[in-house]
Amino acid sequence: MDSFEWNKIVAVSLAGILLFVLLNITAESLFEIHDPEQKAYIVEGFTAPVEDVVEEIISDLPSLAILLASSNPDQGERVFKRCQACHTINQGGAARVGPNLYNVMGSVVGSKEGYNFSTALAEYDTPWTFELMDVWLESPSAAIPGNRMGFAGLKNVADRAALLLYMRGQSDNPQPLPSE
Ligand code: HEC
Repeated sequence: MDSFEWNKIVAVSLAGILLFVLLNITAESLFEIHDPEQKAYIVEGFTAPVEDVVEEIISDLPSLAILLASSNPDQGERVFKRCQACHTINQGGAARVGPNLYNVMGSVVGSKEGYNFSTALAEYDTPWTFELMDVWLESPSAAIPGNRMGFAGLKNVADRAALLLYMRGQSDNPQPLPSE
């Protein structure tokens, strides 16, 4: 073979290698998925997964006992204005659309004499604890399905705590506040 022949062989091999490299690069950029260098939700200083962080925030929310201890019955009396269309809460007060609520904390659900409760409440057969009343006032229809209280609920947790304190005071025998 003369040198011209050799040059041709080298040129063809080089072209082949070049083609191979080019195809490889194209294929890589087409098909290879690179992991993002950083996860989008990582916040400076946090290394825990999101669910753990959310759980921690929830467990840090003040408990009902703490909310009640730092709440004010006078504020609760103002919140009670939202109930007055249907309830009185003074001793011996008349029933309106709903029953009179004097002494209600600690009494059995749906047991007030002289009021015709729905079966949902009449058969509930559990005393009104602070926790139950809190859940009831947040959303009556969700707390005890099938009841007749036409009230959407109080979403504000501080309003509910103040109202619970006020209701507790409207009683012959105020219930002990829940402890931690
Ligand atoms: C639109 C009228 C209406 C409003 C407003 C209303 N309620 Fe009632 N409530 C009722 C009715 C009716 C019942 C009886 C429901 C049943 O028998 O199912 C009831 C029942 C109750 C009971 C159960 C009483 C018992 O003896 O077991 C409590 C406690 C109560 N309401 C508290 C409240 C509070 C506190 C508010 C204000 C945040 C409020 N309600 C707002 C109509 C109302």
